[in-house]
Amino acid sequence: MKALVLNGGGRRGGFTTAMCGAFSASLEKEGWDVCELFLLGLDIGHCTGCEQCRSSDGCVISDGMTPVYGMLEECDLLVMAAPVRFSGPSSMLKTAIDRFQPLWHHRKEGGGYAAGMLCGGSAAPNFGNTLTVIRSFAATAGMSWAGDTCFPGTDRALITDAETQAAEFGRRVADGFRGTERR
Ligand SMILES: Cc1cc2nc3c(=O)[nH]c(=O)nc-3n(C[C@H](O)[C@H](O)[C@H](O)COP(=O)(O)O)c2cc1C
Repeated sequence: MKALVLNGGGRRGGFTTAMCGAFSASLEKEGWDVCELFLLGLDIGHCTGCEQCRSSDGCVISDGMTPVYGMLEECDLLVMAAPVRFSGPSSMLKTAIDRFQPLWHHRKEGGGYAAGMLCGGSAAPNFGNTLTVIRSFAATAGMSWAGDTCFPGTDRALITDAETQAAEFGRRVADGFRGTERR
């Protein structure tokens, strides 16, 4: 099984990256092949809404996003990870999601599975807005929801606690896939 993890964090040493690492390690322990992309490190431009993907197969912009379309096709599970920023997804994740607009024009069923992994600084971040965004994208792309985990309170919490939660989420997700051909 293959997973593609979109890391929408801003800091390589932050909670989002720590959660992605622990989650990926969990899946790899179960024999998964995991590819994690630190989105901020890629050159991903904004969707301009040019609508050329309405009539062509893919996006006309050639940049860091270009190989990601193929990676999504190949994976069984897409994981979208991000910190909550002003009660929404980080712009790094949202920019990448917007660039999946070709999938909106070429919708199909049975597009695999998607999951979410979020964190937020306050004791009670508004995770709901971001979950709505990523779940709506997953549904648009014909993906079924494999679950999500949200870690609040990063302003005061230990990064190791976030890793523990993400690792447990990884085990849960792997369990859900066990023995099934999900694509
Ligand atoms: C621009 C910005 C906006 C933020 N907005 C929120 C917010 O609305 N709610 C919240 O709980 N935390 C908010 N935070 C805190 C981050 O979610 C938190 O610091 C998180 O751990 C950052 O992810 P990282 O550790 O992977 O860098 C914000 C942080 C930044 C930089």
